[in-house]
Amino acid sequence: MPEEIIIVRGNSKLAGTVAVSGAKNSALKLMAASILGQGVSVVHNVPLISDINIMADVIRRLGATVERDGHTLAIDATNVTECETPYELVSKMRASISVLGPLVGRFGRARVAMPGGCQIGARKIDMHMIGLEALGVNFEIDHGFLEATTPNGLHGAHVVLEFPSVGATENMVMASVVAEGATVIENAAREPEIVDLVNMLNAMGARVSGAGSSIIEIEGVPLQSMHPCEHTTVGDRIEAGTFLAGAALVGGPVTVTGIDASFLRMALMKLDAMGCEIEVEGDSITVSRTEPIQAIDIQTLPHPGFPTDLQAQYMLLASLAEGNSVISENVFENRFMFASELVRMGADITIEGHHALVRGVERLQGAPVSSTDLRAGAALVLAGIAAEGETHVHEISHIDRGYEDYVGKLRSLGADVERTVLP
Ligand code: UD1
Repeated sequence: MPEEIIIVRGNSKLAGTVAVSGAKNSALKLMAASILGQGVSVVHNVPLISDINIMADVIRRLGATVERDGHTLAIDATNVTECETPYELVSKMRASISVLGPLVGRFGRARVAMPGGCQIGARKIDMHMIGLEALGVNFEIDHGFLEATTPNGLHGAHVVLEFPSVGATENMVMASVVAEGATVIENAAREPEIVDLVNMLNAMGARVSGAGSSIIEIEGVPLQSMHPCEHTTVGDRIEAGTFLAGAALVGGPVTVTGIDASFLRMALMKLDAMGCEIEVEGDSITVSRTEPIQAIDIQTLPHPGFPTDLQAQYMLLASLAEGNSVISENVFENRFMFASELVRMGADITIEGHHALVRGVERLQGAPVSSTDLRAGAALVLAGIAAEGETHVHEISHIDRGYEDYVGKLRSLGADVERTVLP
């Protein structure tokens, strides 16, 4: 099959205003949650990206119908009868396992292919299982499938998560909303996407409080009282952060709209420390820079700490900073593959375990590079915009998984970037 790549001509500017799409990591879970609604739920502001298409296939496979009208999805979960998600879909997208919680909630059972490792680490699902087991779910592994049953129904429980896992928190919330009695999740993930999911579940009849804090409390309601709803997905803080990193890289000013700046507090603090000007007004954020980039230390942590999904974009900034930066990756054990691609463009980066020592260089050079994951891919295109000469970014299907019309949005900001199919 002919390969499509992104060609970036460097030394270019980024300036202007760009609208942020709905959050990928929210919309995927909102689609899964619609299974509990047993009717037609309507979700607005859903990004046009390939991961959403995979989730649509996952829930269609369960018997739902999914219709798209622009950025709005109508999901009819009335005829969901199947409980199985096959390997061919889970292997394409790990987030497919977020149907586990709603399926055990609605049917008391589920059969979901076990996700394997992925490029950014082993990514176990032990915390999903421990949390759901506390609610009464029995698991068996059957030829690569996780078989979930609830011999005595779902009941509330008090669970302390070992780590505030986003996926485990979401699966537990989606199952416990229809469990008998009360559930408390301690050390819950606090990401804005969890708040968005809980807002939708509450609009469907659930009784959940505390989302956005580390203790989430759920008062179970009967499944029959859950109903479909209409919901608008929150803006994508990682997409916003990516464009703002681009502004910091080449000077901007770039304004992103459709994003709550409180979702990006730590990322904006770091841009400020790197020497950027930041303005927040309503749902828009503007970043510009006139002074040299200052070196900075960053450690990725669960929200509200610095997001791992912006680590590559900020490593790029550090690579052109004055001085040395240390970046520590604490969320995924193997998320530095981006560094070796950036080194091919002239960056000076040494990896020691989960720390990266980034010594600032004066310039990067265009080169052929490969997206190693979706955020790395987006950061490589930005690197090409700042570099001298031409950069060819390969494996761009990673970028299409999570960024709606990335090339079009960058072009609208003045970047010289295009998609092309290689002969
Ligand atoms: C979600 C996001 C992803 C983001 C990540 C952390 C989606 C679709 N993806 O992924 O973009 O980078 O949050 O903000 O929303 N872990 C275990 N056992 C478990 C579950 C997780 O060991 O049962 C580990 C993982 O391997 C990882 C860490 O915990 O090292 C964080 O994972 P988690 O917060 O669950 O991330 P995801 O929900 O997979």
